[in-house]
Amino acid sequence: MSALRMVILGRQGSGKGTQSLRICEAHGCIHVSTGDMLRSAVAQGTELGLQASKIMDAGGLVSDEIMNGIVAERFSHSDISEHGVLLDGFPRTVDQANALERILGSLSQDLRIALNLDVPIEIVTQRMLDRRREDDTPEAIRRRLELYETQTAPLLDWFTSRDLLSTIDGVGTEDEVFARIDAAIGARS
Ligand code: AP5
Ligand code: MG
Repeated sequence: MSALRMVILGRQGSGKGTQSLRICEAHGCIHVSTGDMLRSAVAQGTELGLQASKIMDAGGLVSDEIMNGIVAERFSHSDISEHGVLLDGFPRTVDQANALERILGSLSQDLRIALNLDVPIEIVTQRMLDRRREDDTPEAIRRRLELYETQTAPLLDWFTSRDLLSTIDGVGTEDEVFARIDAAIGARS
């Protein structure tokens, strides 16, 4: 079977990270979370981490140029071609989606599906406030959700136009949401 390459989209706090772990356990793909990569750079105090931490704390977006470079570099590792990938948190802008298309094209790889976890704003806001990650201050949450609407929501049309989008109701227990996701992946296999 060929390696599965997938993207998971959805508002901040919609459960992308939570479901990604389960999806990759079930399908053996590599979970690539750009948020996790940036948090690890911050923890290690690298130059990238120093640049990113202020932006993340304020709920802003790290530049497309930096993010596209990080993801292109990650795709150069052979584990992704061997095992497949689930991208979580990337792409987040149309520029990043175009960059992903170029990266995949240069490797003669394609995407199987873009999963869109649909959860209303009031519910994601409450989930994030309950979670208490460092960048989950009310102001940063507001800013991130605003940027989602202006920068990331246009990607739903971008993926629809390539016949890749599957929208999944992300409200329910983690098991219920996972069952819906697995059915959507199965329907495209
Ligand atoms: P990132 O780490 O991607 O954060 P985010 O977009 O804010 O998304 P979250 O990780 O908060 O939400 P999630 O959907 O993963 O939800 P989770 O599973 O945790 O990015 C952080 C920052 O990095 C960005 O703000 C930006 O600055 C920068 N960045 C990253 N990528 C970038 C890019 N490509 N370009 C530019 N900048 C970038 O779930 C949330 C909570 O809900 C958890 O507590 C969980 O336990 C709970 N939960 C999950 N599922 C359920 C359920 N079914 N029912 C009840 N609770 C649930
Ligand atoms: Mg996450």
